[in-house]
Amino acid sequence: MTLVDRDDITSVGIDSIDREHEALISLINQLHSALLHGETNERITYTFDQLTIYTTKHFSNEENYFLQYNYPDRIEHSKEHAQFCQNLQQLQENFNRGEENTTFELLQFITHWLHHHVGTQDAAYAPFFKKNGIK
Ligand SMILES: [Fe+2]
Ligand SMILES: [Fe+2]
Repeated sequence: MTLVDRDDITSVGIDSIDREHEALISLINQLHSALLHGETNERITYTFDQLTIYTTKHFSNEENYFLQYNYPDRIEHSKEHAQFCQNLQQLQENFNRGEENTTFELLQFITHWLHHHVGTQDAAYAPFFKKNGIK
C-alpha cells in the first residue's frame, strides 16, 4: 500500500524541483511501508535518516534560490520548511518512544502538509523561478 501517489503531487513545472519532490514522496512511501511491515528498528531509523537528509537538501536548494534571486516571500516560505522539519523530528521521537498510533497519524499529517505546501507555496514561486532561468 502506497501512502501517497506521485501523481497526486502538483507539478511546479520545473524539472529539477519536480524530481526532488518525487524523491521526497518516494522516501515517505518507503518509511510508511517500513513502519507498516514492522521492519527492524535499524532499517526504520535508516529510512528516517534518509528522509531527513533529503528533506534538508531539498529545502536548502529552494532557499538558496530564494536568496540568490531575492524571492519576495522567502521568509514565510522558509518558516513552513522549518515547521515541517520540526514535525519530522517529532515523528521520529514518537517512533523512538514506541508510540505507534501517533507515528502513523503524524506521518499522514506530514504527507498532507507536503502535498499542500507543494500545491500552494512551491507552486507560487514557479513563475518567479522560471523567469530567473531555473530549470
Ligand atoms: Fe519543495
Ligand atoms: Fe518549499
